[in-house]
Amino acid sequence: MSTPTHSTVLIIDFGSQVTQLIARRVREAGVYSEVIPFQNAEAAFQRLKPKAVILSGGPDSVTREGSPRAPQVIFDSGLPIMSICYGQQTTALQLGGVVEGGHAAEFGRAEITIKEKSALFEGVWDVGQNYPVWMSHGDRVTQLPAGFTVKATSENAPFAIASDEARKIFTTMFHPEVVHTPDGAKLIRNFIFNVAGCKADWTMKAFREEAIAKIRAQVGKGRVLCGLSGGVDSSVAAVLIHEAVGDQLTCVLVDHGLMRQNEAADVVEMFRKAYNMPLVHVDAADEFIGALEGEQDPEKKRKTIGRLFIDVFEREARKIGGADFLAQGTLYPDVIESVSFTGGPSVTIKSHHNVGGLPDRMNMKLVEPLRDLFKDEVRALGKELGLPDHFIGRHPFPGPGLAIRLPGGVTREKLDILRKADAIYIDEIRKAGLYDKIWQAFSVLLPVHTVGVMGDGRTYDRVLALRAVTSVDGMTADFYPFDMNFLGRAATRIINEVKGVSRVVYDVTSKPPGTIEWE
Ligand code: XMP
Repeated sequence: MSTPTHSTVLIIDFGSQVTQLIARRVREAGVYSEVIPFQNAEAAFQRLKPKAVILSGGPDSVTREGSPRAPQVIFDSGLPIMSICYGQQTTALQLGGVVEGGHAAEFGRAEITIKEKSALFEGVWDVGQNYPVWMSHGDRVTQLPAGFTVKATSENAPFAIASDEARKIFTTMFHPEVVHTPDGAKLIRNFIFNVAGCKADWTMKAFREEAIAKIRAQVGKGRVLCGLSGGVDSSVAAVLIHEAVGDQLTCVLVDHGLMRQNEAADVVEMFRKAYNMPLVHVDAADEFIGALEGEQDPEKKRKTIGRLFIDVFEREARKIGGADFLAQGTLYPDVIESVSFTGGPSVTIKSHHNVGGLPDRMNMKLVEPLRDLFKDEVRALGKELGLPDHFIGRHPFPGPGLAIRLPGGVTREKLDILRKADAIYIDEIRKAGLYDKIWQAFSVLLPVHTVGVMGDGRTYDRVLALRAVTSVDGMTADFYPFDMNFLGRAATRIINEVKGVSRVVYDVTSKPPGTIEWE
C-alpha cells in the first residue's frame, strides 16, 4: 500500500542476501517501506514519494565497470539517505570519494569504536565506546566525499561509519539490519524517525481501509473465487475481500482428506457461521486418497495433489458459474523483486503459494490483497479483522497436507492414525503452554513396524515420529528442545490412546541439513 498518506521509506536493492531484513526493521517500527531493484529505483522514487531512502548492500564491486549505481535524483533530492555496505561504496563514489577494490565480500563480526557524535546513534552509542557489528569486508572507501567525516572505525574499516550530517547522508560499512548487529534496529529507528521525520503510521487499521478501497476498484461488479485452505493467509484474504465486495466472493474449500483433525469442519463453521460467507465445501477425499494410495514417490505425490486440486477447483467453479477473479493469499516475501547475481531483477514466486496454472486455464485475473505484507503483518491484519487468536496463531500447514507426513502410499487407515496421534501431541503442547513458542509441530507416521508389548500381548505396530521446530521464516530451523518429561508424557498418551502406534521417537534434526517436513 504505497499511498502518499503514508510515510514511505524507499529501499534500493543492490542484491544483498539480507535486503528484506531492512524492510522488516522499518516496518517493525511502524513505517511503510518497499524494496525496489536498483534498475527501477528512479521510477519508484517518483511514484512512492519517499521521506527517506536506504541503499542496501550487494555482491558486486563498485570498481567494476558497469556495476550498479543509485539514481542521481536521490542525491539531488536532499532527502535523508542511509547507505549500507555496497550502498556506502556507491554513495562515496557517486559523491566524489574514492573506493578501492579489495577482497571478495564476506561477513564477519567486528568491534567498532565511536569517534564522533552522529544523529544516527544519538541515545544509542557513546563516543569512545566499542560496540559489536556485523561487518562486510571487500571494497573499501579510501577517500570520503567533501562534507563527510568519519564517525566510527574498526581495525579493518577506517570508515566503518561516515556521514555528512548537514546533508543527512549516513553510510555504514556494516549491516545494521541483521540481528548480529545488536543495536542495528535502533540506528534504523533513529534514521527514520529522528533524521527523516517519518511517522509510525503503518497500522493495520489504515491498511484495512486502503486495501478494501483497492479491492473494490479492481473488482468492480465482478465475481471473485477464493480457494480456502484453512491456512492463515487465504483466510485473511477471504475475510478482507468479503468485507470489500460481500457476496461477489465465493470461497471454495477443497477438502482433500489430508487435513488435520476437525480442520475442514472448523473452517466451514467459522466462515459460514461467523462470517456468513458463501462457501462451497467439496469433499474430494476419495478422489485424492484413491490417487495417492499406490504412490510412493514424494515428488509424484505432490504433483498428483496439485493436479487434482486444479481439476476439483475448476469443476466446482464451473458449477457456480465461474468467476472473473481468483483471490490468493500471496505474501510480500513471495513476490519481492530481488536483484539476481546476473544483474537483472528477478521475481521469485514460490509456486506452492499459488494455485498454479488455474488463472490462465480459467481465464481469471488475480486478486492478491496481501502482496505487500509479511507473515506477521498478515497475522496482525487477521486480528484487526476479528479472526480468533487461536486461528491466527496456528502453525503453518503445507498445502499437500498430511500426505507429506506419511512417507509412502496414503491410505485412510494411516491418515486416521496420524490425525489422532497428531491431535494428542498438539494437545499436550498446548497444555504445556508451548504452542506459541514453537514455529511448527507435527507428527509423521513412518512406514516401519516394530515390536511392542501391550498388556499381556505382543504388538507389531507403527513408529510415529514427533517433530517440533523453532524458525523465523521456515528457511532454517532448529529442533525444539523439549523437556524429556514432556516427550515421555506425549509418547505414553499416544501409544495408549491410538491403536496402530507402538513406538514414538523425537526428531532432533535441524534445517539444514534436514528439511522441516519428512515427505
Ligand atoms: P521444508 O520441509 O521444505 O518446509 O523445510 C519449509 C516450510 O514450508 C512448509 N511447506 C509448504 N507450505 N505448501 C505450503 O504452503 C507446500 O507445498 C509446502 N511444503 C512445505 C513446511 O510446512 C515448512 O513450514
